[in-house]
Amino acid sequence: MTEEPQQHWDRVYSDKAPSEVSWFQSEPRPSLTALARFDVPHTTPFVDIGGGASNLVDALLACGWSDVTVVDIAAPALAAAQARLGEAAAGVFWEAADITRWNPPRRYRVWHDRAVFHFLTEPEQRGAYRRALLEGTAPDALVIIATFAPDGPEKCSDLPVQRHDAASLAAALGSEFTLLDDWREEHLTPWGAAQKFIWCVFRRDSD
Ligand SMILES: C[S@@+](CC[C@H](N)C(=O)[O-])C[C@H]1O[C@@H](n2cnc3c(N)ncnc32)[C@H](O)[C@@H]1O
Repeated sequence: MTEEPQQHWDRVYSDKAPSEVSWFQSEPRPSLTALARFDVPHTTPFVDIGGGASNLVDALLACGWSDVTVVDIAAPALAAAQARLGEAAAGVFWEAADITRWNPPRRYRVWHDRAVFHFLTEPEQRGAYRRALLEGTAPDALVIIATFAPDGPEKCSDLPVQRHDAASLAAALGSEFTLLDDWREEHLTPWGAAQKFIWCVFRRDSD
């Protein structure tokens, strides 16, 4: 029987330690590099879409970011991040939700997604993501999205992915978003395999 996405991700995070998954980074350097290219006040509402058990939230808190939300379909991933953060977890907003069904409670000024959008292989799923993005971002918001590049892996976590370049990501997000910058990055998995990523930063122009 085919697993639903939530069952898949719950199982992944229940079976493996955060450092045993291909997307693990000891430091979220590419995300911090992306943020450093733009002058964003650290009081700005920030949402990490599909943040999982990533230590980006730890790094943001350490840099003084004061309004951070982490959304992920897998509650066990959020629990792992909360356990690692200890008392500091109380200063973060946590949402266990599927991004394609999520109703954002507010409008964020930074939307960050590392390695989530590429799991949306159907146009309907990407359309549902766009709906959440439109509901969940304010005009002038920065949208930082990293996906597997056209020469990146065809699968992740045993799931098929849709690889992207800047043009296909821009088309998927729609005319309300202007591409500000894009660059390539090579991620090394914990076992040393190279994965090609594309990073894109958009600005939301209008309602
Ligand atoms: C490859 S991992 C990346 C995790 C994290 N962004 C990072 O860089 O370490 C993909 C993450 O997306 C989450 N995810 C997958 N599909 C999702 C969806 N439809 N809605 C929300 N989260 C999802 C998974 O649970 C997982 O944590």
